Amino acid sequence: MVATSWLLLIGLAAAAIAGVLQARAQPDNIGFISIDCGLPGTANSVDDATKLSYAPDAAFTDAGSNQNISVEYVTSTLAKRYLNVRSFPDGARNCYTLRSLVAGLKYLLRAEFRYGNYDGLNRPPIFDLYAGVNFWSRVNVSSPETVHRLEAIVVVPDEYVHVCLVNTGSGTPFISVLELRPLKSSLYPQANATQGLVLFARINFGHTNATDIVRYPDDPRDRLWLPLFDATLWDVMSTTDRVQNLNNDKFEAPSKVMQTAIIPRNASNNITFFWGSTPQPRDPTPGYIVIMHFSELHLLTGNAVREFFLETNDVVWRSSLGFRPDYLLSDAFYTTAPLPAAARYTVNINATANSTLPPFINAVEVYSVISTANAATDSSDVSAITAIKAKYRVKKNWAGDPCGPKTFAWDGLTCSYGISSHSRITGVNISFSGLDGDISSSFANLKAVQYLDLSHNNLTGSIPDALSQLPSLTVLDFTSNQLSGSIPIGLLKRIQDGSLTLRYGNNPNLCTNADSCKPPKGKSKLSIYIAVPVVLVLVIVSGVALFFLFMRRKKQGSTSTKNTVRPQNEPPMSYAPAPLPPGDVHEQSSLHLENRRFTYKELEMITNNFQHVLGRGGFGKVYNGFLEDGTQVAVKLRSQSSNQGVKEFLSEAQILTRIHHKNLVSMIGYCKDGQYMALVYEYMSEGTLRQQIAGNGRHGKRLTWRQRLRISLDSAQGLEYLHKGCNPPLIHRDVKATNILLNAKLEAKIADFGLSKVFNHDDETRISMNTLVGTPGYVDPEYQATVQPTTKSDVYSFGVVLLELVTGRQAILSDPDPTSIIQWVRRRLARGNIEDVVDTRMHGEYDVNSVWKVADIALKCTMQAPVQRPTMTDVVAQLQECLELEEGHRTGGGRRGSFYTGSNSDFDLGYNAYTTDSQSTDVSQTSIAFEMDHNFGKTSRMGGGPVAR
Ligand SMILES: *[C@@H]1O[C@H](CO)[C@@H](O)[C@H](O)[C@H]1NC(C)=O
Ligand SMILES: *[C@@H]1O[C@H](CO)[C@@H](O)[C@H](O)[C@H]1NC(C)=O
Ligand SMILES: *[C@@H]1O[C@H](CO)[C@@H](O)[C@H](O)[C@H]1NC(C)=O
Ligand SMILES: *[C@@H]1O[C@H](CO)[C@@H](O)[C@H](O)[C@H]1NC(C)=O
Ligand SMILES: *[C@@H]1O[C@H](CO)[C@@H](O)[C@H](O)[C@H]1NC(C)=O
Repeated sequence: MVATSWLLLIGLAAAAIAGVLQARAQPDNIGFISIDCGLPGTANSVDDATKLSYAPDAAFTDAGSNQNISVEYVTSTLAKRYLNVRSFPDGARNCYTLRSLVAGLKYLLRAEFRYGNYDGLNRPPIFDLYAGVNFWSRVNVSSPETVHRLEAIVVVPDEYVHVCLVNTGSGTPFISVLELRPLKSSLYPQANATQGLVLFARINFGHTNATDIVRYPDDPRDRLWLPLFDATLWDVMSTTDRVQNLNNDKFEAPSKVMQTAIIPRNASNNITFFWGSTPQPRDPTPGYIVIMHFSELHLLTGNAVREFFLETNDVVWRSSLGFRPDYLLSDAFYTTAPLPAAARYTVNINATANSTLPPFINAVEVYSVISTANAATDSSDVSAITAIKAKYRVKKNWAGDPCGPKTFAWDGLTCSYGISSHSRITGVNISFSGLDGDISSSFANLKAVQYLDLSHNNLTGSIPDALSQLPSLTVLDFTSNQLSGSIPIGLLKRIQDGSLTLRYGNNPNLCTNADSCKPPKGKSKLSIYIAVPVVLVLVIVSGVALFFLFMRRKKQGSTSTKNTVRPQNEPPMSYAPAPLPPGDVHEQSSLHLENRRFTYKELEMITNNFQHVLGRGGFGKVYNGFLEDGTQVAVKLRSQSSNQGVKEFLSEAQILTRIHHKNLVSMIGYCKDGQYMALVYEYMSEGTLRQQIAGNGRHGKRLTWRQRLRISLDSAQGLEYLHKGCNPPLIHRDVKATNILLNAKLEAKIADFGLSKVFNHDDETRISMNTLVGTPGYVDPEYQATVQPTTKSDVYSFGVVLLELVTGRQAILSDPDPTSIIQWVRRRLARGNIEDVVDTRMHGEYDVNSVWKVADIALKCTMQAPVQRPTMTDVVAQLQECLELEEGHRTGGGRRGSFYTGSNSDFDLGYNAYTTDSQSTDVSQTSIAFEMDHNFGKTSRMGGGPVAR
């Protein structure tokens, strides 16, 4: 008890620390994340100039180590955040995770690197930087004292973004500062979900103080505007009045930047500047996007005109008209696509002949583009695997995105990579990894996982039943752990229906045999909690055992009954029931824990004295009911006068205990109490397909074509499972629209297995039944003739159901004489007009090709000769194609929904003119040492300038 409390306290303390760290790893109240990488301790460092608070980085990364730069690189003006770095000597990829973002929003990411010889090697490294799963830039730290700065504008697809440093074999990656700033989505329209902008230069022209970088709070977005002024070429034009932005400004250049501009020193000269192309490892000839900011700063009077042309690499922007920027309003002229690749990019601004004043410019931004089309891992997979990583403190290369990029996928994970869709985690192998504690519930949140290997660890506790809900899971390996408890019922079901292989050998405390599931001894409360479920399981087991004793009264006695699951060591096998002899479903040899046995009294309670009838059939009536826990159920009670006998009842009960599929109605329990017999099913709120087709569904709505397609695909899958997935396989023998039930989500499930028969794969034609069963209108003529059912008889009946779905009519029509729907459709389709047969209540809202195809499938299914009919597997595949056709139709491929707009940009060569709004500014200065990066140069040439008048 004492020990427990201590553990609890430690746990709480750990949670509290994690909470604090988590809280720090989030944006501050203006949405900024500012990280001083390598800063030890928990206290933030506050920048003198911006007053922004930089957090230590421990909450953002779990790798690397803190290092201080060498003393010789510490200067009096150096901002505190450059005094230390985090370096990552281990692992190919190391990442920071920035959380609590808004998925789909645009952010500015900035990383800074000041080497400062922190490692004493005097060798600045070269490494790569990634924004999420997408390559951002190569980091080439050329000199130890300069701040190497990288900035990107990206749309962040998730609520978090990773910034990753990748070792390229040219030195240890390190980082000094990492910043994130939110941007309005309307800003920088060139950045979108699949394309990011990487900053090449952002210049504030005409600011004469060469060390004064304009940033936050002058720029509320905290972009860094570097001053550029060359007094030999240019004169300053400036104002102290505020420069406004318009409401729909796409760039929101800050007033402080716009308040200064340059004009040529010699009024007749042009303004010219250029930059050289800077090849990147992934992009040897990057194109550049240019954004130029203009605001007239002098109030022009009288005849004064200031008008100019813009040119990039001798291409004139909007050549027919000169630009005349507005007074004290921020204007931006920009390219929407990168300029054509060139070795050197020259911008030339020259006055037009009409201009009386020299040209000018206030600021320029130049970006290259990166693809951000690589999709990150599905965010629910990420949170699940992140929780798993945290719980077991997994020590692997588990950093950044789990799946992407492929080369850096986490060790032990396998992923599926879709085109422009999120990657999914499909396999997890953390065997031999020293995991301890219980099995994390987060495994059950890896919804796409197929393969889960936790073998050879020290896992304790029980196996969570939630794992059985993983739809794609096929292999689950717990071999060699310390697990206890029993195998959960849901997993047993999955094992039985053959959809799962479970390996759990060498777990000495795991209860795999009902007899060995003794309640543990001891008097603590804890053991009571364990004992209760064990007792429950025992009760259920014995109930079910009685049931099967009862059912085995007629058995041939050859198969041994094993009411246990055997632990399997090597070789691992999946657990499946032994095949039954053909023609007799009364043989039963597998374990059934899942079905509950009800007494008649209980049924009375559940159905409130059989008050509410849901429907009726040959067997008797079906009643509405509620279990103790509120689960709604349907209770099918055999009436005394039923022509469906005990045999059918038992047959259905047995089949339903054995088979489980999402498209087969599932049984919750049964009652065999004196002369009373009943089956308790899951409740299917939308009733039968027949009711829905007739428009008598609960909501009286007509099914849409798409819903009809889904329903036909669901039911086809259910039948396919009976024919192919079940062992031994089954023929339903009574497929019809009243035996297809729909739940609240309109998912279809096949019901009523009272007439179903087991058959033998190899010899299916030899099953001989002496009575013909089925429903008029649905019965295969071949079966009618031979009284030998085959799977093709079900295919035939299913074809009739498809025709009902297409036409909205019943299997037998009065036309005016009774006519089979098959003849009716064949006759009308012979005229080649599908509209003649399609249910008019769909109001033509369907893809004609898709309806044709379904009609065609239906007619193939109802061919006279069984060999000409497709198998249910073919039918499933073809219906899937129909659904795709219909979905294509809905997204604009069909008659509706597609439209074209005339181009209104005929004269726009990709260059747009734009006008832009503003915020008040305060003067603030920073003390960043910086270099004039990137070969961004300037020249001024002589030539025929405007004539001043
Ligand atoms: C992003 O912009 C590029 C270039 O204009 C374009 O090709 C791409 O389709 C856009 N992506 C999205 C998701 O809009
Ligand atoms: C110059 O002014 C003349 C007369 O106003 C006008 O026709 C012409 O289009 C202008 N040229 C430019 C380049 O704006
Ligand atoms: C230039 O800016 C720096 C940093 O903002 C500041 O310390 C310095 O005083 C400024 N110099 C002048 C001449 O204004
Ligand atoms: C100004 O630009 C125009 C157009 O490119 C060019 O023809 C002219 O020579 C330039 N003038 C000077 C002085 O460089
Ligand atoms: C400015 O450039 C345009 C386009 O090249 C050219 O037609 C015009 O003559 C130039 N103006 C001057 C004054 O050089």
